Amino acid sequence: MGRLPFIAGNWKMNKTVEEALDLVRGLKVHLKGIEDVEVAIAPPFTALYAVSQELKGSSIHLASQNLFWEEKGAFTGEISPVMLKEINCRYAIIGHSERRQYFGETDETVNQRIKAALRYDLKVIFCIGETLNEREEGKTFSVIERQVEGGLKGLGEKEVRDIVIAYEPVWAIGTGKTATPQQAQETHRFIRQKIERLYSGGISEGIRIQYGGSVTPENSKGLMNQEDIDGALVGGASLNAEFFSRIVRFKEI
Ligand code: PGA
Repeated sequence: MGRLPFIAGNWKMNKTVEEALDLVRGLKVHLKGIEDVEVAIAPPFTALYAVSQELKGSSIHLASQNLFWEEKGAFTGEISPVMLKEINCRYAIIGHSERRQYFGETDETVNQRIKAALRYDLKVIFCIGETLNEREEGKTFSVIERQVEGGLKGLGEKEVRDIVIAYEPVWAIGTGKTATPQQAQETHRFIRQKIERLYSGGISEGIRIQYGGSVTPENSKGLMNQEDIDGALVGGASLNAEFFSRIVRFKEI
């Protein structure tokens, strides 16, 4: 269907500047010549600038792990979209479940951050996903529906076109318990159908939906072979150049 696969590495709160540069240098070697898969990495804020310098001339894109919705001002501890644009960030991860779980992120604040990112021409990786409790109570689809509606509230077709959705079941993040390709496909299909109900103009067919949650070189191909899975948001395995590169090169496995 012509959706370019997109693999992104979410480094979370890992890597000093020196370690980050080491990892990027390794990735540049391992991923040389990759064209049929889009790649992005999201280092911690302290390493973003150094990594952006190291990425010059490379096809690997830079992503932030979050952003605030104001341009500047008295918001201690926050980073603005303008600051991220200045250092060549292309993507911003927004609404990651760890932000929702530990830092009070809600559908409303996720929506504000998404709007700010788009306003400043940053592309968005918009994260959604149910907890284990919600899945066991049969609420997966209703939770996903609420998160999609809340996060995208007020956005038009032109804006949504540039959003990548990352479906990350919370019970699969960092636990080693990956969703089976069938489980993931079922939810991805549901998300695409939801987008189809919300937006016309072929948006749902074009929008990329990544899977996230314990993705490894071993399980990536099975997931990526599913019709509605267009990429992966990788945590733990993105901290190692060889593992992450093998995930990016899933077609060669
Ligand atoms: P994981 O994290 O690959 O370590 O499970 C994924 C994520 O949280 O984006």
